[in-house]
Amino acid sequence: MARIADSKVKTMIWDGSKLKLIDQRKLPFEKIYIKCETAEDIALAIKDMVVRGAPAIGVTASYGVAIAANEFKGNSISDFDSFMEEKTCLLAEARPTAVNLFWAIEKMKKAYKGLVSGVSGKTTPAGQKNAIEKIKKLLIKEAEDMEIQDVKINKGLSANGLGLIKQLSGLSLKLTVLTHCNAGALATAGYGTALGVIRSLNAAGLLQNVIVDETRPYMQGARLTAWELAQEKIPYFVISDNMAGYFMDRGDVDIIITGADRVAANGDTANKIGTLSLSILAKYYNIPFYIAAPVSTIDINTPDGKSIIIEQRPHEEIKKIAGCRIMPDYMPVSNPSFDVTPNENISAIITEKGNIFAPFEKNIQKIFKL
Ligand code: MRU
Repeated sequence: MARIADSKVKTMIWDGSKLKLIDQRKLPFEKIYIKCETAEDIALAIKDMVVRGAPAIGVTASYGVAIAANEFKGNSISDFDSFMEEKTCLLAEARPTAVNLFWAIEKMKKAYKGLVSGVSGKTTPAGQKNAIEKIKKLLIKEAEDMEIQDVKINKGLSANGLGLIKQLSGLSLKLTVLTHCNAGALATAGYGTALGVIRSLNAAGLLQNVIVDETRPYMQGARLTAWELAQEKIPYFVISDNMAGYFMDRGDVDIIITGADRVAANGDTANKIGTLSLSILAKYYNIPFYIAAPVSTIDINTPDGKSIIIEQRPHEEIKKIAGCRIMPDYMPVSNPSFDVTPNENISAIITEKGNIFAPFEKNIQKIFKL
């Protein structure tokens, strides 16, 4: 992974053969892009949080598959197939919770598997080489489409969220929204999910303020969400996570919107650690609690929240803040990166195909039939 400076701020920039990712570990103080030229570079960028957020991880992985195909230099289709199997496994191992990673890799595999099986061992080496070149081009096109589609999906789900909230509030009321982590343009190919809804509320003149949870330990709220809002001059202020109840108790929070890393078939939702506590507080204070996520974040093969693998991250993330040690190394800590909000705490799941309400199990199935 080479480091390069770039003045244009976008989550990812594809130049036809390599992917540049804004280094989200360095934001908001430095805008540095990391150049990924191999599938290994992409896997490492996902693992090390250069790029994070479920949809952004998915789109990045799809470019990883396209880059992997380009790395293959042989003529044999079966060698190509084995090579791709190895690289897609490597990409899939980068992080365990966000289902968009696996969804995107599967989508890319489906795209090339048909062409692979259309070529037999009896095809001439030139014919096999030709098929491999075709697959390489196809995979680039698939990844580019996924990036374009992601922005469209985010805008679609944001419009649905706006419609839902307009019904709730009446047209004249301006709302204060609390959000957790970063589910914005940086967590996607652009516009965002939870932050996309907030952007749309602001554009419609319905936004009073955004309360941004700093989101310990990785500070995605303080570093990324606050930065995105500041860029667009959307009103906001940052709180430490343990202040959320204080603001809800004062009546300062009208709605809560977060993103998701994986929504199970029954609506239970894994999202950044701290989301569960927010949902419990929301229920206590009778505040609508929304999840905004593309349909690709819903995993109908995962029956419920208990079946979702929760990523455990390095202890250093707890022991240090911005690289500065805040406790001696001998002190034991624990660092689960996500928690699961049970479906009964969720008022609606906002998607590009419509807003899903309880009973979630039944209504999620319906969305998949659309
Ligand atoms: O660990 P992260 O930063 O990848 O976690 C991100 C989140 O939890 C987001 O809320 C989620 O992925 C949705 S992003 C649109």
